[in-house]
Amino acid sequence: MNILILSVGTRNKIVQYFKKSITGKVVVTDMSPIAPAIFEADSYYIVPAITAPNYIDMILDICIKEKINAVMSLIDPELSLLAQNIDRFSGVGVMVIGSSYELCEMSLDKMKMFAFCRQNGFNCAESYESIAQFESALRQDRISFPVFVKPIRGSASINISKIDNMELLNVVFKQSDQLMIQQYLRGQEIGADVYIDMVSGEIVSIFTKKKILMRAGETDKAVSFKEDRLFEYIERFVKVAGFRGQIDIDLFDIDGEYYISEVNPRFGGGYPHAYECGCDHMKLIENNVNGIANTRQIGNYQSGIYMMKYNEIKICQDIRS
Ligand SMILES: Nc1ncnc2c1ncn2[C@@H]1O[C@H](COP(=O)(O)OP(=O)(O)O)[C@@H](O)[C@H]1O
Ligand SMILES: [Mg+2]
Repeated sequence: MNILILSVGTRNKIVQYFKKSITGKVVVTDMSPIAPAIFEADSYYIVPAITAPNYIDMILDICIKEKINAVMSLIDPELSLLAQNIDRFSGVGVMVIGSSYELCEMSLDKMKMFAFCRQNGFNCAESYESIAQFESALRQDRISFPVFVKPIRGSASINISKIDNMELLNVVFKQSDQLMIQQYLRGQEIGADVYIDMVSGEIVSIFTKKKILMRAGETDKAVSFKEDRLFEYIERFVKVAGFRGQIDIDLFDIDGEYYISEVNPRFGGGYPHAYECGCDHMKLIENNVNGIANTRQIGNYQSGIYMMKYNEIKICQDIRS
């Protein structure tokens, strides 16, 4: 399988793991000629922003030239774009590793995700889009301070805050648009790296970890663990929603009740923990691209394995000349 990974940025490990696990070429793209992860690949292309006209045409040209069999992206705004163009990719024999357009859009919008959870019986923090709705819920005791405020379509923990009173909430709401108010959750944060087979549509791999420390919106330290009840909860959620390919789910465990916090329908920043513990989702992708459905291997890893992040650097010559 030759794979094309779009917008690799600083995700060096993901590129390295593909090179290690699959037979065939790993081709990548980024907007920047000094994105560190491009130097890990067999070849790379510098491309314009995903909003550029003809962006998809350019990606299709790369697919044809490099005899690509599968394509995926590592950034949220590009997931919907790929999903919208599935037919164009399959027209040149390329499988898009990802979920449907609707699910990509739902995952980007935390109010939509809340509504989905509510409609389908999954726990999710009580959420409101406006101060008026929040105040009404406050009067009915459906929510109480502290609350968590974040952008409806946020990412990377930008512009998030814990708010204790109405005065501050009003100030924060005046400062930015498109915010939402959520019940503040207290509990153990959990991350799940999940693979849903692109051939059979069945969930085939789940890796779960307890988050120990968060830093700049990312899990800095975590420990792997297994719990059948959690696997069952995740499986039911994924099945009802209909996700496909690689997804990353954030949950809270509050006194034994699981809450869905967020879904990223792509390789999450914490995936290296799963791979290093033996959850080789690169191989699962390769099997799917070769038409092979993967067997169920949920929980095939060791508990009690710790992940600690640290900084790395990349050195290269000026490649822009
Ligand atoms: N309702 C909440 N209560 C308490 N903490 C929260 C809540 N929602 C999010 N968080 C914390 O903020 C972080 C970022 O929120 P998240 O919804 O994942 O947004 P992003 O898309 O920016 O990652 C989460 O990882 C979690 O630690
Ligand atoms: Mg998050």
